[in-house]
Amino acid sequence: MDVISNCVCVNKKDAKKVLDILKNGNALRSGLKPKRIEDKIAFAVSQVELTRGLLEKSGVTFEICKDSFEKYKYSFKRLSEVIPGISSYLIIGDIAIINYKKDMGLLKKAARQIMEMNPRIKAVYAKTATLGEFRIPELILLEGEDKRLTIHKENGLRFYIDLAKAYFNPRLAGEHMRIADLIDDGDSVLDMFTGIGGFSINIAKKRKANILGVDINPYAIYLAERNYHINKKILKGDVTFMRADSSRLDKIIANKFNKIIMNNPTMSINYLSSACNLLEKGKSTIFLYVLESKNSNILNKIRGSIKCPYSFEVGKPRKVIEYSPSMSIYEIDIVMWVTISP
Ligand SMILES: C[S@@+](CC[C@H](N)C(=O)[O-])C[C@H]1O[C@@H](n2cnc3c(N)ncnc32)[C@H](O)[C@@H]1O
Repeated sequence: MDVISNCVCVNKKDAKKVLDILKNGNALRSGLKPKRIEDKIAFAVSQVELTRGLLEKSGVTFEICKDSFEKYKYSFKRLSEVIPGISSYLIIGDIAIINYKKDMGLLKKAARQIMEMNPRIKAVYAKTATLGEFRIPELILLEGEDKRLTIHKENGLRFYIDLAKAYFNPRLAGEHMRIADLIDDGDSVLDMFTGIGGFSINIAKKRKANILGVDINPYAIYLAERNYHINKKILKGDVTFMRADSSRLDKIIANKFNKIIMNNPTMSINYLSSACNLLEKGKSTIFLYVLESKNSNILNKIRGSIKCPYSFEVGKPRKVIEYSPSMSIYEIDIVMWVTISP
């Protein structure tokens, strides 16, 4: 039986490029076959706004649509059709992760199903929590071998990931690319919570920018360095990684930046003062990520947290990732005009 789905329709010549963008940005709806409509191809997508955002940046001509799609054969079925109650899971390299549910029997059944559906998956874990300052996932092995080190492909880049020692979220792929598009050649960029280097290395692939990636977790910095080296041949920008506490960064380095990425959504707001002291003279932008409930007044909270003596404008919050039924991660652009040398 066919399935009605939101979709995106593109010229045949752009189909391969669009498929890569949708896959890397986690916007492709799995289990449904692309469809030919006259001289165009339609892909079923999971989120219309995410798709629009990804494709607007790519320069490809596209149309958002709604149509019926044929399902792939059994091995590509959506998990929810096989195991009711478990709808989605993340794939990081050759590891799959399901969000924890109390029913261990259900999780184990889902894990077996995932391995059957994706022969390249070597381990399936349930994630129970994200812990501590380093934001490390707490995982229970459900099926396969206990391996947490893997290589993950994102936006044409390769990343060493170690789920036991450093944070990584494949759902940020589209956001890494979106921010990279907002950086210009020659920019001085600070990636204040770089983790394994996702934003920094995506930016360096697109732009001749000078980028500093900072993280408090030494092992994340070790992986970020390795990730820089395995991708070096295709990078245009210059990246340096540094282990440091970003709350003290303004006391440690003399560098100034015109773009600052603050992607530590549970804590970012507390680091705004340090970020202010690291801005170049002139116009600068801070990309701030916050975890908030749907009804909270994010703008008031942010405006109240900015203590720098510069004029600033806070943009509209943009939802990046749904975290739970009531909480989401939002990105807010803060544009600052630095009039005095900090
Ligand atoms: C959400 S993760 C960052 C993800 C990363 N930006 C990416 O795109 O993959 C938050 C990171 O902040 C780091 N962190 C936490 N407190 C910090 C601090 N005071 N200074 C620098 N990094 C910190 C954690 O180690 C973690 O890697």
